[in-house]
Amino acid sequence: MQVTPLQGAGAEITGVDIRHLTPGEFAAVRQAYADHGVIFFRDQSLSEDDHIAFARRFGPININRFFQAHERFPEIALVLKEKEQKTNIGGGWHTDHSYDAEPAMGSVLVARQLPDAGGDTWFASMYAAYDTLDASTKAEIADLQAVHSARHIFGSAPDNHYKANRDTDSRIGNAAAADVLEDVTHPVVIAHPLSGKKALYVNPAFTTRIEGYTDQASHELLARLYAHAMNPAHAHRFKWQPGSVAFWDNRATWHWAMNDYHGERRLMHRITIEGCALN
Ligand SMILES: [Fe+2]
Repeated sequence: MQVTPLQGAGAEITGVDIRHLTPGEFAAVRQAYADHGVIFFRDQSLSEDDHIAFARRFGPININRFFQAHERFPEIALVLKEKEQKTNIGGGWHTDHSYDAEPAMGSVLVARQLPDAGGDTWFASMYAAYDTLDASTKAEIADLQAVHSARHIFGSAPDNHYKANRDTDSRIGNAAAADVLEDVTHPVVIAHPLSGKKALYVNPAFTTRIEGYTDQASHELLARLYAHAMNPAHAHRFKWQPGSVAFWDNRATWHWAMNDYHGERRLMHRITIEGCALN
């Protein structure tokens, strides 16, 4: 088994069948995940049961409240775009579940049906985003908290992210659960629960403001942090192939699903693993 760091973010792990990890391989995979924030495997052949078993080795499974589930395996959320649909899921920089008090650790995404071309996923390292900030910005954000919500993304308001795009109705649901979500706060800079390294923990989808800042000051700081974090030097564009698996950590990365394959069907199976409170 070999771990190869990738340009920008993440690492590719080769020479391993993730259905049959030895205890030593499992420990090395877990370490690579903590170190790099996202790890990629190629040429795997996972059944749904294999996918669930792999994810469970890392923690309890979180059943997503908003995504369409696999009809036989409720642990598996479908990330689907039909050929006649125009809107994809996750088509902007974000990290999943920051709207929860204990955000999910991460997800294992398995490619099931891919377009002939396109449908890549970008991943950005929030370790690198933090490390490359200038000293005065690091000092400014050291003790700040940010507010996160999913109401404007998954809620029932007609102008929310998905309701504004009617063709996602069958894929994103349970708006009533989003409507009653309480805002949560997390530190702007977290000590990563697995690695101990500092990571930037705000994102353009779910972070709504900096606690204690005016609207304008909050907007200005978040815009500045996002512009910095979006630097392609901190990111890797992952090209999916049959058998590809990506396993990302929500506390150490952002991701962005490219929506450049209209007229073709793309189906991914996602399993999300529970996380913990952040500080
Ligand atoms: Fe996502």
